[in-house]
Amino acid sequence: MTNEWWREAVFYQIYPRSFSDSNGDGIGDLRGVLNRIDYLKDLGIDALWLSPFFPSPQVDAGYDVSDYRNVDPLFGTLEDFDELVHACHARNIKVTIDIVPNHCSNQHELFKAAVLAGPNSPERELFHFREGRGEHGEIAPSNWTSAFGGPSWTRITEPDGTQGQWYYHLFDSSQPDFNWEHPAVIAEFENTFRFWLDRGVDGFRIDVSDALIKDTSFADTDGGYPLIPKDDTCSIHDIYRKFREIMNQYDGDRMAVIETGAEDEIVALFIRPDEMHLAFNFHFLKSAWGADLIKHAIEQSLSANAIVGASTTWVIDNHDNPRSVTRYASTTHLDGHYVPAVYTDLNEQDIEAGKLRSRAMALLMLSLPGAAYIYNGQELELPNVDDLPNEVLQDPVFFRTNGEQKGRDGCRVPMPWSGTQSPFGFGPDQSQPWLPMPNYWGDLSVETQLQNGASALNFYRRLLALRRQMPVLRQGTVTIEESGNPNVVKILRENVGAKVLIITNFGDESYFVHDDLAKKTLIASNPTDNPYEVTGNSTVLIEIN
Ligand code: NOJ
Repeated sequence: MTNEWWREAVFYQIYPRSFSDSNGDGIGDLRGVLNRIDYLKDLGIDALWLSPFFPSPQVDAGYDVSDYRNVDPLFGTLEDFDELVHACHARNIKVTIDIVPNHCSNQHELFKAAVLAGPNSPERELFHFREGRGEHGEIAPSNWTSAFGGPSWTRITEPDGTQGQWYYHLFDSSQPDFNWEHPAVIAEFENTFRFWLDRGVDGFRIDVSDALIKDTSFADTDGGYPLIPKDDTCSIHDIYRKFREIMNQYDGDRMAVIETGAEDEIVALFIRPDEMHLAFNFHFLKSAWGADLIKHAIEQSLSANAIVGASTTWVIDNHDNPRSVTRYASTTHLDGHYVPAVYTDLNEQDIEAGKLRSRAMALLMLSLPGAAYIYNGQELELPNVDDLPNEVLQDPVFFRTNGEQKGRDGCRVPMPWSGTQSPFGFGPDQSQPWLPMPNYWGDLSVETQLQNGASALNFYRRLLALRRQMPVLRQGTVTIEESGNPNVVKILRENVGAKVLIITNFGDESYFVHDDLAKKTLIASNPTDNPYEVTGNSTVLIEIN
């Protein structure tokens, strides 16, 4: 691995509340992660990304932060965090954490102070407070809507008890947006970065990275969704240059990956050499299973990133999207970000096909150059849990859309570790996990999968070991070759003399590889006895010389 380890690292996303519960309160915690550290080592990942574990009212599962520089007692203590970093580093695993700069919780001291200080106070300038429209200010300042559904303005009760100003929130009403044009906001986050860098973290994932600078005219838009400026003229890039300077002051190649749903060419602007390091390839994640869509996503993201010298960051699963097994069980393109509308018709799904396809995509993405992210449970091929009863749902998306959208809880159900009944080793026996786990998940547990050589977990372990051994799987060039079949994508990968072919068959019928290739199958997502066969819905990796 190069010094810039992040360019080709495999990151493992831990959603702390769903990974492992050490104390039996039904919610995963940092000691739970510590207890499973050898599992992570054996899986063969290079780095962790921990979703938020900071003090928070947990309205948006911790993405509503009330103190950026501490650990929520729900997840443990700062000492637990330090111990975890130490234990990871001792095993050559880097630790990256989430920074949520766009908004905080309405329970954050700065927001509480802003409400108390009254209109036109300096405290209010750290957020976006505006007077309402209408005779008594009773109409929201603009028609902008929240990414979670409903309006993006909430009116406050002023300290004197009257109905007063409104504040802007891109997400839930409990998540007021910061005013990033204010130096005190920049200083606040500079302190936060330094706090965690000083504690030894190797990097950050930056939430909603592209929305920090708004069109503060807040003028009505068609459809009510905010216009978010982010091209090269936008001062948002100065913010990232500042963050980069801070990281550069530390040794050890600290890094940041940004979350943005922008088009490939815009994403690339944020990962120029003096801005951030990596950006999730959501074009790839959101592409439905199909040769043309996936090929296009690969080509376009690679060429946009090549212009700025950035590596690509492959991802098919995270805590905001229905799990890939379920997504690929149908061939619907994923359009909405927080409100995936495509999973309502369970009859159209073929989960067995979804599993084959998810594994085929994992082999494809982990053989492409660049970094990659795996989301906890992806390596077990957990399906999305689409039949959670409404009473247990917690995602604000469910509430803000008045139940029209179920939200994201279905991809956040805790990990099954062992045993035959809930909580499947997630927490101590008898404890109730924060979301119910399906009865059949014993068959998918880590314990069960470790005993089966053909399991998803063992496949991921073999694949990550191979990737570690063979630099050509993480570095070098990508040439898309003619496969002679519209459903088959054939990619030649070359790196200092080493050559491999990735063949992904998006069709249902088998594809047969030309026998003039000196053929050595390195790994196949759905192995068969015939060395020339790539079965439908699978990927094969072939070494050529
Ligand atoms: C993106 C995060 O991944 C998501 O879980 C969260 O709800 C929103 N940002 C708001 O912070």
